[in-house]
Amino acid sequence: MTSGVQDIRILRRCLISDTLFDQIGCQLSIVNCQLPIANRQLKRQKHYICSLIFSVLKTVYIARREHFNAAHKLWREEWSDEKNFETFGKCSNKNWHGHNYTIFVTVKGVPSLETGFVIDLKDLSTIIKKEVIDPLDHKNLNLDVPWLSGLLASTENIVIKIWEQIEEPIRKAGGELAHIRLEETENNYVDYYGGKQPF
Ligand code: NI
Repeated sequence: MTSGVQDIRILRRCLISDTLFDQIGCQLSIVNCQLPIANRQLKRQKHYICSLIFSVLKTVYIARREHFNAAHKLWREEWSDEKNFETFGKCSNKNWHGHNYTIFVTVKGVPSLETGFVIDLKDLSTIIKKEVIDPLDHKNLNLDVPWLSGLLASTENIVIKIWEQIEEPIRKAGGELAHIRLEETENNYVDYYGGKQPF
């Protein structure tokens, strides 16, 4: 739950009428003034008003797709060659192999009154290129990328690390990272929501 001040800031960015803004903002001010009393009724009232606000907000999800090609192998040193092959199949090939990865980065938010944007897609593209594509494209994911060092380079593990790389830059650009999809092949992909349960 955000604070009343944050709620009002969010309201200023969303597509509602001035009258409704004044009504909700006024109610929030009253509730916040009385909150130190902190009785259950006031807490319920604040919860109701916040619910009202978020039912008014029109959150949308905007996505950007990018590509990179990279080599890797799935391998555990402490396992025998046979066990590695049995577990990881062709991805355990000792002399590496490559994938054509596709990444979808989704940002959520309320469209700005001024621009209609959740986030400027040019900014999002720049962040993905700087933080993901440049470090990973045409690289060996096991050897060449400091922030993947020591990691078993599965698509699952890679997508979690990518989230850690881009979450803060996206926040600084005014967006909220909501979802990353990383496709390793045409048929196999991984979805990650920052550790949250989306459904
Ligand atoms: Ni592979």
